[in-house]
Amino acid sequence: MKKVIFKGDILFTPTKDKFETYRNSYLVSEEGKIVGVFERLDEKYRDYPIVDYSDKLIIPGFVDIHLHAPQYMNMGLGMDKELIPWLNTYTFPEESRFKDLDYAKEVFLKLVQDLIRHGTTSAVVYSSIHKDTTKLLMDLFIESKLRAYVGKVNMDRNANTELKEDTEKSLRDTEEIILEYRDKSPLVKPIITPRFVPSCTEELMKGLGELALKYDVPVQSHLNENRGEIQWVEELHPQFPNYSSVYDHFSLFGQTKTIMAHCIYNKDEEIDLMAERGVYAAHCADSNFNLSSGIMPVRKYLDKGVNVGLGSDISGGHSLSIPRAIVGTIQASKMKWLETNRELKPISCSEAFYMATKGGGSFFGKVGSFEEGYETDLLVVDDSNINDIERLTLEERIERFLYVGDYRNIVERYVAGERIEALSRLNIQTVI
Ligand code: GUN
Ligand code: FE
Repeated sequence: MKKVIFKGDILFTPTKDKFETYRNSYLVSEEGKIVGVFERLDEKYRDYPIVDYSDKLIIPGFVDIHLHAPQYMNMGLGMDKELIPWLNTYTFPEESRFKDLDYAKEVFLKLVQDLIRHGTTSAVVYSSIHKDTTKLLMDLFIESKLRAYVGKVNMDRNANTELKEDTEKSLRDTEEIILEYRDKSPLVKPIITPRFVPSCTEELMKGLGELALKYDVPVQSHLNENRGEIQWVEELHPQFPNYSSVYDHFSLFGQTKTIMAHCIYNKDEEIDLMAERGVYAAHCADSNFNLSSGIMPVRKYLDKGVNVGLGSDISGGHSLSIPRAIVGTIQASKMKWLETNRELKPISCSEAFYMATKGGGSFFGKVGSFEEGYETDLLVVDDSNINDIERLTLEERIERFLYVGDYRNIVERYVAGERIEALSRLNIQTVI
C-alpha cells in the first residue's frame, strides 16, 4: 500500500465560510487518498515516509471547470469584441486549424504544460469539433497524469463552413469517443459538449441528450452569457420559456452531471432549476470582463444552493491562472454588491478558494479538499519570497499568494498521490 506523509503548513476549505488551517502539521495519504490532517502524528503512522515541506503551504490543487483548449493561442486577441462577433472573427477561424493534428499537438502540449505550471490539477475542457484532435488531447491529458474531462465540441449550425458538422457524423464521432475513452483512464473522461444552443440544431441536441443518458456521460455547455446571444436563442426557439429550458428539453440540463458556463443573466426560475438538478455553474470572471458580457450574481447562486466552480475560459479569459480567477471572482462580486445597492454581499477569499477547489472539484468526485477519503491532489507553495511567514497567519499567507504570488511560487504538484512532472520532461506518446 502506498503510504506517505506530507509535512508543512496545511490549508483547505471543507466549507465555504472559512479556511481550515494546520501549521507545521501532517497530511497522511494512502493509495492516493487522504487519511487525514494531524497536528501530531499517531504512533501508527511511524513507519510512513515523510516528505518534508516545512514552512511551505500545502493546499488542494486548483480546479478549472471551463476552458477551451484550441483557443490557447488566441489568449489576449480580439478583446475589443463581444461574444458573437468575437466567436466569428477570432475563435471559429482558430478552431478550424485544429483539423491539423500536428498543429493541434504543438498547441495542446503548450496548454497542458501551462496548466501544470499554474497548479491546475483538474480541468473540464472543450476540444474542437475534430474527433482525432479530441482523442489526441485526451491522450495528452492521460500522459500528463492530470485529472480531466474532455469534450469534442458539437456544432451543426451557424458556424463557418469548416466547423459546421453533419449532424449524423457529429453524433457518431461523439459516440465513438465515449466508447473508446469511458474506461480507458481513471483520470481522463469524455464529456458531451454541445457548444451552445445557437450552434446546435434540435436534432443534434436530441441525439446528444440520448447519448448522455445511454452512457451516463456528463454534459457541458454555455448559458446566458451575453444579451445578444440570449435574444438570438429566443428568436431560434420562441416556443421555450427560457434558455435553460431548451437544454432541459433535450436532457442536457442535469439529467446527467452538467456544467453550464457563465450564467450571467439567468432568470430566477432557471437558477432554481439548476439548484434542483445539481447543475454546476462555471463562473469565469476574466472572460466576462473581456467580452463585456456582464457580472454573474454569484452570491445569488450560492444562496440558492447551486454548485459554483471557477473557469479560466481561455480565450475569453486571457490566463490559465486559477488564483487570478479567484481574485477576479472577488472583485466582480464587489461590483455586483454596489450595483445591487449592497444587497448581494461580496464573495470572501475562503468562498472563492472553495469554488476553485472543493466546489468545482466535486464535479470529479472527492476532489478539492483534504478531508478523509478525498483524492490526494495537492500543491506545495513556497511563499517565502512574498510573505513574512513567521508573522502572518496562514489565512493571510494564502490571500497574499493568491493576489501577489504567481506560478513560480508553486514548487510541487500531486494528483492522486503522484507527483506531476512538467510535460516537457515527459516522453509524449499518443495513439496517432
Ligand atoms: N459561447 C459559445 N462558444 C463560446 C466560446 O468559445 N467561448 C465563450 N466564452 N462563449 C461561448
Ligand atoms: Fe467558454
